[in-house]
This record gives sequence, C-alpha cells and structure tokens, in this order.
Amino acid sequence: MPRAELADTALRKLFDAAKLAFERAYAPYSRFSVGAAILSEDGRIYAAPNVENAAYPAGTCAEAGAISAMIGGGSRRIAELVVVGAGEGLCTPCGACRQRIREFAGPECPIHIAGPEGIRASFTLSTLLPYSFGPENLGGGA
Ligand code: THU
Repeated sequence: MPRAELADTALRKLFDAAKLAFERAYAPYSRFSVGAAILSEDGRIYAAPNVENAAYPAGTCAEAGAISAMIGGGSRRIAELVVVGAGEGLCTPCGACRQRIREFAGPECPIHIAGPEGIRASFTLSTLLPYSFGPENLGGGA
C-alpha cells in the first residue's frame, strides 16, 4: 500500500473511533455531542465522548476523557487527534482542552476537526495554542 494511502487508512480509523465516541456522548443539557480520539505515539487509539452532568460545571469534554483513557491505558504521548462535533461551525477544542492536549503533545501534533461526515479542517497544536506554557517552562522548578 502506498504511504499516503496508509496514512489515509490510519486517519480513517482514528476518525471512526472519534465518531463512535460522538455517537455515545452523554450531552442531555447542551445537546451538543462531541467525540475525541487520540492516536498515541505507541500506536494505540483512545477515544471518549463528552459527559455532562446535572451540576453543569462537573461535565467533562471529550478531549479530557480521551486523555484520561490514554494515561490510564499506559500511553503518554499524543501523535494525532480527531475531534468530531456536529453543527455548522468547527468543533475546535476549548481553551482548557488545548492546554490539556499541550501537556502530552508536541507543537506539530495534528489536530483534525471533523463533522459526522468526515474531516473538515486540520491544525497543528501550535496554531491553536501559540506561545504555550508546558512542562518545560517549569524548568525543574516543580
Ligand atoms: N465540548 C467538548 O467536549 N469538546 C470541545 O472541543 C468543545 C465542547 C463539549 C462540552 C459540553 O459538553 C458541550 O460540548 C457544549 O459545550
């Protein structure tokens, strides 16, 4: 299989995982379902939906859930990420989730924003969160 086709297949698999999570979202309050899927650097896929709560601030974003699944699953680095959300606008990660992703991804990490029909736009982490603060900024002061 040619390289580009292989990359397409891997991305399709990641999209499918994010879409399945999207379909399983628990979002009775906002009625805005989101699914996120992470491809870790060690080649595994971790996915999660948003999970809302009657006490609204206790709800969690899909990206946060996928990161928890990744850490709980034993992986540490994000190679690529797909976020699926419906609606006309792009479902780009919220500010807090950009920072959560930043903890475990490099500046060139691709972040693909999709609708249920497929990928709509692709960014890198550094375009979504420029001049970010991360573990290195603590400079051993932790
Ligand atoms: N949400 C996510 O899960 N990820 C995003 O990237 C944007 C927003 C969730 C939070 C809340 O459950 C719903 O979408 C509406 O904001």
